Amino acid sequence: MTSPTFPAFVVSEEKGSQKIQREIQQKTFNDLPPGDVLIEVQYSSLNYKDALSANGNRGVTKHYPHTPGIDAAGVVVESSVPAWQPGDEVICSGYDLGMNTDGGFARYIRVPHSWVVPKPVNMSLLESMQLGTAGFTAALCVLALESNGVKPENGPILITGATGGVGTIALQILAGLGYKVVAVSGKSEARDFLQSFGADEVIDRVSFLANKEKGLLPATWAGVVDTVGGDILATAIKGTGFDGVVTSCGNAASGDLPLNVYPFILRGVHLVGIYAANCPMEKRLLVWSKLSKEWKLERLDALCRRIRLRDLDGEITQMLAGKSKGRCVVQLGD
Ligand SMILES: NC(=O)c1ccc[n+]([C@@H]2O[C@H](COP(=O)([O-])OP(=O)(O)OC[C@H]3O[C@@H](n4cnc5c(N)ncnc54)[C@H](OP(=O)(O)O)[C@@H]3O)[C@@H](O)[C@H]2O)c1
Repeated sequence: MTSPTFPAFVVSEEKGSQKIQREIQQKTFNDLPPGDVLIEVQYSSLNYKDALSANGNRGVTKHYPHTPGIDAAGVVVESSVPAWQPGDEVICSGYDLGMNTDGGFARYIRVPHSWVVPKPVNMSLLESMQLGTAGFTAALCVLALESNGVKPENGPILITGATGGVGTIALQILAGLGYKVVAVSGKSEARDFLQSFGADEVIDRVSFLANKEKGLLPATWAGVVDTVGGDILATAIKGTGFDGVVTSCGNAASGDLPLNVYPFILRGVHLVGIYAANCPMEKRLLVWSKLSKEWKLERLDALCRRIRLRDLDGEITQMLAGKSKGRCVVQLGD
């Protein structure tokens, strides 16, 4: 196939300095990395990890120039393996996509076949990216709570970084399953927004941290979805009840965990780590299936803005400043 030129959002380092530049460039198939499957991307989405990659974070992306985008949904154009055929509608998220392999902020990606999953029947390509890695991660947290025995009657679930992508989707899934959900947010103006998506209570970040120096706090939470780490995660663990389950997936505030062992040895609190990128395929398919069926969200449109490649620069700046709310889908197609 003759290679068309196509737009890609490229992050580069200015020569001789570590200053980052972001611009839209025209590329061809020859510029793409090797792989079995060429996909025409219809939608991608903006995740916190993309913002880090687009900001020169070497923990995410080692070499520039680079095209971020850990999420992509689109249509197979070429495949050298029988499992995927031209015309198949697919999702590719996680693994090395958008980290050190050029990612979904471009009209085309080329990836190994083992990274590709079929789009669930009961979900559109757009819906798959309205969820994206943030939604997939939120679902992994819910799965971890459920599989560790947390039931709605056990007590409330705390969600931190609640207005973010992971937080808002976890909130909706849990509220839909009948859990009482308490949201912690740094955005005082977001109370109505969070309540409209199912939060029973909203606690502002400063009040939540008022007793952060204490070793243990009243046993309140049956489960926690933490997206921010640091003092907030430590405070959440100290306030978790007997046999409660805390899922830790993010570090939007900090990668540290300032904590003693008392919640674990006096209350049997379980701390469960969540890592979406290398989630095994069997679990990956289960989670996408649940998101398309019993955990299907009816109000994704209200949660997501649709943007173009040209809007990414501003959205990334907002996200890094902790100011984003909900999800941002990047539309690559017409
Ligand atoms: N483990 C995994 O596999 C995995 C997968 C996806 C995402 N993540 C991680 O999960 C986290 C959330 O991702 P996301 O896509 O939801 O990001 P996001 O949309 O940017 O949301 C993060 C939220 O965290 C809160 N926040 C930001 N800065 C903060 C600070 N300094 N102190 C306390 N809270 C702060 C804000 O919510 P409020 O204003 O409402 O408090 C913000 O909206 C990120 O760290 C991301 O890297 C991990």
